[in-house]
Amino acid sequence: MPYSTLLYELRDGIALITVNRPDKLNALSHAVIGELEQAAGHIVEDAAVRAAIITGAGSKAFVAGADIAELAACDPAAARSLSERGSGVFRRLETSPKPVLAAVNGFALGGGCELAMACHLRIASENARFGQPEVKLGIIPGYGGSVRLPRLVGRGRALEILLTGGMVDAQEALRIGLVNRVVPADRLLAESEQLLRTALENGPLALAGCIRMVDEQEALPLEQALALESRRFGELAGSEDFREGTGAFLAKRKPSFGGR
Ligand code: COA
Repeated sequence: MPYSTLLYELRDGIALITVNRPDKLNALSHAVIGELEQAAGHIVEDAAVRAAIITGAGSKAFVAGADIAELAACDPAAARSLSERGSGVFRRLETSPKPVLAAVNGFALGGGCELAMACHLRIASENARFGQPEVKLGIIPGYGGSVRLPRLVGRGRALEILLTGGMVDAQEALRIGLVNRVVPADRLLAESEQLLRTALENGPLALAGCIRMVDEQEALPLEQALALESRRFGELAGSEDFREGTGAFLAKRKPSFGGR
């Protein structure tokens, strides 16, 4: 498929999606958001894609936020619709039944931090920097930053990041739970791929089930969340993957999952 602002490569079941505007630190223009929407659709719908990595071109930035030149031209109605569009695209990634990992290779600011937070997993290179600097522009985050950040790192830490607009380095991001791992820059893609390959050894329906359950429980009271988990657990017990997984364990062999 032809992309002008993304690079797209399928590596043995893992889609590598690179935001490719390095001269603008991979800022999210309307065009990038449109193509990320296309790519999200591709991840979800293409059976050949089993997982995805999102990263940024160059060694300086993952994504340095929404394109401020475009943002500056927005009136209130346009700003709201820009926010709704971007949020919808990020939500599509977040609800992908296949794991999506952000390989954060530098600045992840504003929409870049928000894009990373919408992914299921985050690995940062040692030079990565995270922040929500929207307040410096006189506005709040528009792609889920004030919603996902407190859920990931807690209200107090989230508010410090949101109110100061300052940057958090990779080690601090690891300490507060904003990223899963920090690795040297030259190991970022290899470690990202390795983590996904480990996940992909498992049953695809079970992976999708974990992603969906972790997402849906957030909106539910504890008792209802536990009841929903029991229901889904029961449903998956009817799958061929469950027969295969348990059968392989008992027969002391490696399972071969078909995703059915
Ligand atoms: N939108 C549009 N263009 C951006 C951008 C953004 N979010 N972030 C960087 N750029 C552009 C710069 O305007 C510059 O373009 P130019 O060479 O045509 O002038 C180019 O990318 C390089 O950025 P520059 O600022 O020169 O790099 P730096 O190393 O001095 O600073 C940052 C790096 C990330 C600290 C700085 O670019 C920055 O603060 N960016 C904005 C971050 C932000 O507020 N994001 C939230 C947006 S809601």
